[in-house]
Formats: sequence, C-alpha cells, structure tokens
Amino acid sequence: DQVEKGQFEHFMLKEIHEQPLTLRNTMLGRINDRDEVSFPELAPAAGAFKDVEKIFIVACGTAYHAGLVGGAMIEKLTRIPVQCDIASEFRYRDPIITDRTLVVVVSQSGETADTLAALHESRRRGAKVLAITNVPTSSIARDADFVIPTMAGPEIAVASTKAYTTQLLAFCLFSIYLAQEKRTLGQKLHAELVQGLKALPVQVEKVLENANEVKLFAESIKDADSLFFIGRGLDYAVALEGSLKLKEISYIHSEAYAAGELKHGTLALIEKDTPVIALVTHMELYEKTVSNIKEVKARGARVMGITVEGNVELLNAADEICFIPPSLQLLAPILAVVPLQLIAYYASLALGNDIDKPRNLAKSVTVE
Ligand code: G6P
Repeated sequence: DQVEKGQFEHFMLKEIHEQPLTLRNTMLGRINDRDEVSFPELAPAAGAFKDVEKIFIVACGTAYHAGLVGGAMIEKLTRIPVQCDIASEFRYRDPIITDRTLVVVVSQSGETADTLAALHESRRRGAKVLAITNVPTSSIARDADFVIPTMAGPEIAVASTKAYTTQLLAFCLFSIYLAQEKRTLGQKLHAELVQGLKALPVQVEKVLENANEVKLFAESIKDADSLFFIGRGLDYAVALEGSLKLKEISYIHSEAYAAGELKHGTLALIEKDTPVIALVTHMELYEKTVSNIKEVKARGARVMGITVEGNVELLNAADEICFIPPSLQLLAPILAVVPLQLIAYYASLALGNDIDKPRNLAKSVTVE
C-alpha cells in the first residue's frame, strides 16, 4: 500500500494530485497539430454520428454528475438536444429512442450493473451506444458500439476524483469532435477551447498548490451538522459533485442547490454559522449568485466562495474565497471541482474517517 501511495497518506489525495497528469494523458493523441480533435478509437466509426438527433447521457453517481456537465457541453457546441438520466431510472421510464438516438454511458469501472443494463436496453431499442469509461477491458466497453477510454489510470479510492475530471475532459473533446462533424463550431471558439484545454493541467497544478485556504476551511466544518453547496448553471452541476464527495467520506450531511431555488425551501434550513459553499464561476450570472449569497448571509450563514482569480469583489459578499485560474466557462468545472475534492478530503481527515474505504460504500456496484 505504502509504495503505491508514495508520498501521500491516502489514495484519494494521491489521485487528486494525479489530475494534471491524467488530464494530459486523456488529451494525448486526440488533438492534432491543426488543433482538430480526433479519436483514433473512433476512426472506424467515421461519420457514425452525423445523423444523431438526440443524445441521452446515462450513468450513476459521480459519472452521472460528469454527464450533467458533458450534456451542457454537447448542447452548447452542437445544438443537439441532450438529456441526462440516472441509469437506475432510465430503463424503467420507457425512454423515447430511435435509430437516430445516441446513448452515452459513462462509467469509471465499466462494471456498474445499472449502467450496463441501460446500455443493453438502449441497444435493444435501436440506439447507438458510446461508452466513456476508464477500463477499456470492462463489460461496458465490450458491449458498447463505440468507446472513448479516459486515461485516469487505476482509481483505488472509493470517492472518485481523477476519473471525474477525465470524464469532463473526454466530454469536452467529444463535443468538439461532434461539432467538427456537424460544422456547428466557429473557428474562434474552437481555437479558444483547444487553447483552454491545453492550459488545464498547469491550471489544476496551480489550484493544488494554493490548497491551504480550503484545507483550513475543511477543518473548520468538521463539526457542522449540515452544509450547503450552491451555484447556477454548470456551477450547480459541480455543486452536486462537491456535495456527493463530502457526504461519501466525511459523513456530514450536505445538499447541493441551484442557487435560485434556495428561496423555495432550503433557505429555511440556514441558521447562524451554517457553512455554505458558493460556486461563482459563471460571470454572466455573477450578480444573481451574489444576491443568493446575500440571502444566506442575512440568515447567519458562513460562506466560502469559489470564484475566478481577480474577482476580489466577491469578498464583499462571502467570508472566505478560493480562487481558480480563469478559463472558458465550459472548462471551469474541471478547475472548480478540485477545491471541493480537497474540502471533502481534509474534512474527512480531520474527522479521522477511513477516507479510501468509506462505510457502506463500494468502489464498483455490480448489483442492481
Ligand atoms: C459507486 C462509486 C462511485 C461511482 C459510482 C458509479 O457508487 O462509489 O464513486 O461514481 O459507483 O461508478 P462507475 O464505475 O460506473 O463510474
């Protein structure tokens, strides 16, 4: 164990720190010198996605959260309508599938029973299935029509970290690939996206280097009864993942809320000193999220803001801030999730929990 963990106390921390490398590896060989995205694995399938009219993204847990961000990327770049489903729900709701439907299943292990069953059901109904998976020899990879492997390497900790960020990256690459086929992506945005992707590994390194602030915050929430994550748009999808991470390993109750929904119920739960983590990376929604921060502050909440470097103005609203480097909005989740992974890790460490093997949970759920 010690050898594999190297300098790190837990696999989870090691895997968090591997992300610059796993992002690099997932990009490798997939962006050519003309900055076009190509997947050698998909070469035999050239043109296979041209007629796709509707996309479902189906997964469980963290992979489902990656799908929420991935769906937004695909819609934004290709204008193909995307619907995200939890695998254990998908099969039972008689989804509308035609031969122009693409179902994207996402799975770190490639063995999750519900995701595999959703794949089989989708194929039975005539859809093409693309698997985004970290294990190219898995059942899901074997049974899908197409496979995009993520290059996260073995993920040992039950709480998924590097698999999630490589799934987001794979989705971004696939969105650009689809947009190239459908000619829906302008040159300028294409160039900015590729440049933004290439900058990510170094930017994640930067976030990891500046982890002290979030470490102190994490230690301070260890006795909290409850914690809330809020955000809008993609920040909401990242909030869901941050909340799941915290629950999985710290056992602190938490909820993620679309910031604009707070006043429809959750605001009633905010008391003096309730910790709230506010994700504020969508600058066009900045004012709206800040007004939500003010709502929770007025009820006594203690707010940690996660925002983009230079946005010091947020200090007028939040109590503490963690800055992430500036990037395109579609790429910000890959950066914004890193402090949330660290908050979950350090809160759990302060509580003395078994971080890599949390109670009641399994790395791979092969029963329905
Ligand atoms: C389990 C794991 C989670 C994971 C989920 C889906 O619940 O503990 O970390 O996100 O399964 O797993 P998959 O291998 O399909 O991504």
